[in-house]
Amino acid sequence: MSTATVIDHPLVQHKLTIMRDKETSTSSFRQLLREIAHLMCYEVTRDLELTEITIETPIAEMRAPTLAGKKLVFCSILRAGNGLLEGMLDLVPSARVAHIGLYRDPKTLIPVEYYFKAPEDLEDRLIIVVDPMLATANSAIVAVERLKERGAKNLRFVCLLGAPEGVRKFSEAHPDVPIFTAAIDEKLNEHAYIVPGLGDAGDRMYGTK
Ligand code: URA
Repeated sequence: MSTATVIDHPLVQHKLTIMRDKETSTSSFRQLLREIAHLMCYEVTRDLELTEITIETPIAEMRAPTLAGKKLVFCSILRAGNGLLEGMLDLVPSARVAHIGLYRDPKTLIPVEYYFKAPEDLEDRLIIVVDPMLATANSAIVAVERLKERGAKNLRFVCLLGAPEGVRKFSEAHPDVPIFTAAIDEKLNEHAYIVPGLGDAGDRMYGTK
């Protein structure tokens, strides 16, 4: 059974509070999301394996640690996932990137796929799926299913906010995929928005309604 790890670092919590405030501007919201992504990336990658290589500093030769294995993959669930993706790429610029386009049918709330592009060789890579809001979890579940169909075996999911319902449903569907979040809120409302949440993450990132 997968559990959610809440990243309770004071800087994450402080920035999240500003993001939740409805008076926060679009540009500040985007910038804060990028900054939180840095902090979350640091936590979600803290157990990556290292290997040693030989380098020469200006003073001496030494054996020094470097990331082992194949480059990791960030998978953004469009469009709000891109806000977290940008921050993650700041810290791991050599990562490969996958995009999955899913929108929620407003009536059924079922995710409809309109785009999928991922690196070919997912088998041996760590794949970090990003989407700021884990609400019903429908999109996240489908995204991970698609990646698994393409061979992905080692996945993690990073969001900013989770609803208890979404965290439960995702963990039941993908018990092998750990969730990292900045907070788990109270509930979902009748329109499947997280309460108290922060509104529509995509709209707040891009100034749409
Ligand atoms: N997606 C959002 O952007 N916000 C929510 O509260 C739920 C889903």
